[in-house]
Amino acid sequence: MQSQGLPGFRDFYPDDAALRNHIFAAWRDVARRYGFQEYDGPPLEPLELYVKKSGAEIVGQLYTFEDRGGRSVAFRPEMTPTLARMVAARGRALKKPIRWFSLPQLMRYERPQRGRLREHFQLNMDIIGEPGPLADAELIAAAIDITRKLGLGPADVRARISDRRAVRALVDALGLSDAQVPIAFQYIDKIERESRATLIDGLADSAGISSDTAEQVLDLGDIRGLEGALAALDEVPGGAEAGEPLRHCVAALDALGMSEYVDIELCVVRGLAYYTGIVFELFDAHKALRAICGGGRYDGLLAALGGTDLPAAGFGMGDVVLGELVTEAGARPSAQVGLDAFLVAVTGEDVPHVLQLARQLRDRGLRIEYALKQQSIAKQLKLAASRPAKRAVVIGPDERAHSEVVVRDLESGKEQRVAVDSLLQGYSWS
Ligand code: HAM
Repeated sequence: MQSQGLPGFRDFYPDDAALRNHIFAAWRDVARRYGFQEYDGPPLEPLELYVKKSGAEIVGQLYTFEDRGGRSVAFRPEMTPTLARMVAARGRALKKPIRWFSLPQLMRYERPQRGRLREHFQLNMDIIGEPGPLADAELIAAAIDITRKLGLGPADVRARISDRRAVRALVDALGLSDAQVPIAFQYIDKIERESRATLIDGLADSAGISSDTAEQVLDLGDIRGLEGALAALDEVPGGAEAGEPLRHCVAALDALGMSEYVDIELCVVRGLAYYTGIVFELFDAHKALRAICGGGRYDGLLAALGGTDLPAAGFGMGDVVLGELVTEAGARPSAQVGLDAFLVAVTGEDVPHVLQLARQLRDRGLRIEYALKQQSIAKQLKLAASRPAKRAVVIGPDERAHSEVVVRDLESGKEQRVAVDSLLQGYSWS
C-alpha cells in the first residue's frame, strides 16, 4: 500500500512551492512597503491561550495533545494570541505604534474543501498602540495592495467592511441584554450561510430572542453602503458617535485610492470573539471561496492577557484562497530555475575543469549546472535545453589548450570562442 499524507495537508511539489514563494514575496514586499517589521513565535502554545482568547469556533478546531511533561498544548490555529502575548510581555519597551507582520503556518481541524484545508500559511499584519481609524484604513489598504500586486483588481476582489461598535449601537436599540448581544452577533455573522428561518429559530433557542426582535436583528445585517449605515445609526441613541470611526476609515481609504474595492456591509461581524471595532474581510468578487483575508480591531486583548492595555488591529490572509485566485487568473509562476549556463565536458579529462569553472562562475552569482555523470555531448546539450539554460559552455581538450571555451547560445544556435579569463571578467551574461 502506498502511504498517503493526511487529509487537508499539502505536499509542495516545485510548482506548488513556486506559487507559495510568489505569494510570500508579495506579502513581504507589501508589508515592507507599509513599514512593517517581521516577527515570529512558536508553532506550539499552551492550550489555554486559545481557550481564553479565540472563541468557541476555533477552540473546536484545535490540534491539541498532552506533551511529555503533562502540559496541555495546541498547535497554533491563529497568530493573534501569540502576538498579543509577545507584545504584552514587552509592551512598555516597544516604540508605538508597533507595525509587525508574520508568515506562520497554522493548523485547524476543519472539513477540507476548495480553499479550506487543515494547514495553511497566513500573513498577519497588525498595528498595536493606535486606536484611531487611520490604522484600520492602513491595514485594509495593505490587504488590498497585496491582491493588486498579485494581479487582481476590483472586479476580482472586494473589501467588505463593518464596525462592531456601530452594529452594537443598533442592536442595543432593540433592547437586547448584554448576554444576548454576542449571540446576536454570531447569528448576524451567519446571515449569508443559513436560511432566515433557521437563524430566527436559533436566536430564540440560544438567546430567548422573540421572532419579531430576531427579524429586526437580521434586518440590521442587511444594511449596505456607508450612507445606509449612517442613516440607520442616526436613528438610535449613541449611533452618530458609533458611526464616526467607520466614516473616517472609509474617507481614508478613498484618499488612499482604494474606494473602488470597498463595500460597507453590516453583516460582517467576524467569528472570532476578540474583535471590538472595525472588522473587514476581502472576498473574491463571486464569493465562490472562503475569505481571502479577515481582520479587525481587538482593543481589549492585550489587557486581557495581563499586559499593558494597548489598542490593536490587524488581519490574517491565507495562502490557499489566494493561490486558487492566482491560478484562476493564469498568473502562476514557473518553478523552473533557468540557468545562465550549462557546462559541457567533451571528454572525461575535461570534467575537473568543468567543475573548477562552475565554482568560479557560481561565486560570481551565476546559475550554473553540469552533467553529474560522463555523457555524450548530445545528451548534455539535451539536458541543458530542458532546464532551460540560456547557453552551453563547452570545454574540450582543444579549448583547454588555448585557455578558451566554446559558448553556444541555445536559442539561436550561434557559437563563439571566448577566452576563460574574459568569461570570468567582462563577459555579458544577460
Ligand atoms: P481568520 O478569519 O480566522 O482570522 O483567518 C484569516 C484568513 O486565514 C481567512 O480569511 C483565510 O484566508 C485564512 N484561513 C483561515 N482558516 C483557513 C483554512 N482552514 N484553510 C485555508 N485558509 C484559512 C484570524 O485568524 C485572525 N487571527 C486574523 C487577525 C490578525 N485578526 C487580527 N489580526
